[in-house]
Amino acid sequence: MSGGPAIVAVDVTRTYQLDGVSVAALRGVSLTVPDGDYLSIVGTSGSGKSTLMHLLGGLDRPTGGTLMIGGRDVATLSPAEMARLRNETIGFVFQSFHLLARTTARDNVALPLVYRGMGRRERRARAAEMLDRVGLAHRLDHRPNQMSGGEQQRVAIARALVTAPSVLLADEPTGNLDSTTGQSVLALLESLNAEGVAIVLVTHDREVAARAGRQIVMRDGLIVDPAPGTGDGDG
Ligand SMILES: Nc1ncnc2c1ncn2[C@@H]1O[C@H](COP(=O)(O)OP(=O)(O)OP(=O)(O)O)[C@@H](O)[C@H]1O
Ligand SMILES: [Mg+2]
Repeated sequence: MSGGPAIVAVDVTRTYQLDGVSVAALRGVSLTVPDGDYLSIVGTSGSGKSTLMHLLGGLDRPTGGTLMIGGRDVATLSPAEMARLRNETIGFVFQSFHLLARTTARDNVALPLVYRGMGRRERRARAAEMLDRVGLAHRLDHRPNQMSGGEQQRVAIARALVTAPSVLLADEPTGNLDSTTGQSVLALLESLNAEGVAIVLVTHDREVAARAGRQIVMRDGLIVDPAPGTGDGDG
């Protein structure tokens, strides 16, 4: 890795083309995520939070501006190089878990290691270790439909972490959970952050957002707070 910030976005835009109509989901966002950051992103529905997260995670590319992940300019990378960079650098947790339904917790968590070419025995051992870490050592062989929502979210977090990413991106990780379970998922993220993993968290919950080290507010495809140009939004 480069030694620079984990992620740097400079004046990034993302325009979707839909039935011949352009939708400007991001209209020029600049943001730096330093190593070990704990950043929350809030904003109204449709303001561009998930679009930004997909870019920060290398799941999508900007239509304009510059995006550096792990010191690499994503515009210069092939799809295979992007996938590899993602696998090495980023963990992604989605609101709706995105687990494989017919697959056990352990094999869901082990999946990202398949792309690393790691042998089955080691994959299974690492996955079990990570599930233990999120309090699910007793659920290794359960499939998603045999687990509660909070348990499924913890499996998703374990899967995001099994590759030891430097940044964990979480889009509404507590959105589908009751408040007690949500608190325990947050506590888990915060203990990871204390170990040095940078956390970027999208939430509609102001109290959850306030727990982060810093906060940005999005509106209409822009960061409106901190106000652009004050430097705060740039890390
Ligand atoms: N694939 C797509 N094609 C066209 N427009 C899209 C696409 N994805 C998102 N958009 C539009 O881009 C804008 C930003 O969407 P985004 O999903 O980033 O919002 P969000 O802030 O995450 O909202 P929410 O809080 O509801 O999750 C919205 O107006 C949305 O309709
Ligand atoms: Mg969203």
